Amino acid sequence: MPDRRIHLPGNNMPTAWYNIMADMPIPPAPYLHPVTQEPLTPDALTPIFPMSLIEQEVSTQRWIDIPGEVLDVLLQYRPSPLHRAVRLEKALGTPARIYYKYEGVSPAGSHKPNTAVAQAWYNKQAGIKRLSTETGAGQWGCALSMACQWFGLECMVYMVKVSFHQKPYRKTLMRMWGANVIASPSDTTQAGRDILAQDPESLGSLGIAISEAVEDAASRTDTNYALGSVLNHVLLHQSVIGLEAQAQFAIAGDYPDVICGCCGGGSNFAGLAFPFLGEKLRGEAKKATRFVGVEPAACPTLTRGEFRYDFGDVAKFTPLAKMYTLGHNFMPAGIHAGGLRYHGMAPLVSHFVRDGHIDAVAYTQNPVFEAAALFTRAEGILPAPESSHAIRAGIDEALKAKAENKDTVILIGLSGHGFLDLGAYENYLEGKLEDFALPDASLRKALDELPVIPDACVQA
Ligand SMILES: Cc1ncc(COP(=O)(O)O)c(C=O)c1O
Repeated sequence: MPDRRIHLPGNNMPTAWYNIMADMPIPPAPYLHPVTQEPLTPDALTPIFPMSLIEQEVSTQRWIDIPGEVLDVLLQYRPSPLHRAVRLEKALGTPARIYYKYEGVSPAGSHKPNTAVAQAWYNKQAGIKRLSTETGAGQWGCALSMACQWFGLECMVYMVKVSFHQKPYRKTLMRMWGANVIASPSDTTQAGRDILAQDPESLGSLGIAISEAVEDAASRTDTNYALGSVLNHVLLHQSVIGLEAQAQFAIAGDYPDVICGCCGGGSNFAGLAFPFLGEKLRGEAKKATRFVGVEPAACPTLTRGEFRYDFGDVAKFTPLAKMYTLGHNFMPAGIHAGGLRYHGMAPLVSHFVRDGHIDAVAYTQNPVFEAAALFTRAEGILPAPESSHAIRAGIDEALKAKAENKDTVILIGLSGHGFLDLGAYENYLEGKLEDFALPDASLRKALDELPVIPDACVQA
């Protein structure tokens, strides 16, 4: 009988993060200053980030020690389990061996605390009293609210207005962890007021909420900004997921042929995939593992966006990053995977997609929710709609293995549970989900508004 739950004891928890920048055949393109468009210097980021995180952002050191106090907090819910999806394999009648790494065991219900805890700690060390951030559906806002509470920091969350009203429970959770939560666009920042002046009914977007949170942090000396995805240091903190999975596969005596993870800003996917990809790049991997990033067809950043410099936010406060993007003014349709509705993608994930090390696929909502139903019925866990994208891709790999009669080993990143997404699942069960794919004209319009950066020394 195969082990269904591969448990890693706490004393085997990774004590250093893995930094893929040490193993990149081609270095990533530098960030550019939002105004001068010159390569960014570290001091340009000090108004919103502590130097320790800025150093991690540009570090090429392969291993970075996890501070003891951060480890201590992570041990409250880590290592997370690696499950063998025996019942799902049976339901699909596949010879594939399917595993999933479950991040829903964190108190906030997703992988997001892995970086929230680290970011709160480094800011606390730097003497910061308050963090500001944005959140879409609320998973990141919850994680940071909890982490701030644990380290005695105030937390200010700008929550995209449509979710603030439609998904009130995560707002309640954030407030239970002691955070201030405000609907974005708000009238407390200039960026918010500008948007409201143009469109008083604006339902907001992550790009707008980021502008508000960055403005808040930049205008107060006691406050820094924290981002829940995209940036190199966030992906670094998430590497605990893949490092644990490697140790768990060693216990199971197995190794993945394919790894599937959903991609919003890219952090859970990179967290799971990069330790394995690093092994492959160094020529140390047991197999030629394939990596598959999965996104919604309504926000198809990797599959239909362009790899070029863009801002991270609507007000153009953030540095320019070279990444796959749909354009910082892109307004995604109101799909239920709120965490996958960002216009850009982590520069590191983008870089590896551009160079062919990572594949990308996109799905519309109904096939994703069908996969979630199959998974829930077989494995018992209700996945977050975001994570269900990875499940869809994993199931498709298992069906391909069945058609080819191969015993492919599939690893799925199950980034969170869906206990606060029941409205979305109710809509699915009632047959009310729209299969929305982004029309070409909307995509062209958003891409036409991208900044044009002259060919300089920055085109890695
Ligand atoms: C459960 C879950 N999975 C995935 C994501 C996507 O983010 P990322 O691509 O940074 O992992 C989110 C974002 O909110 C999320 O809540």
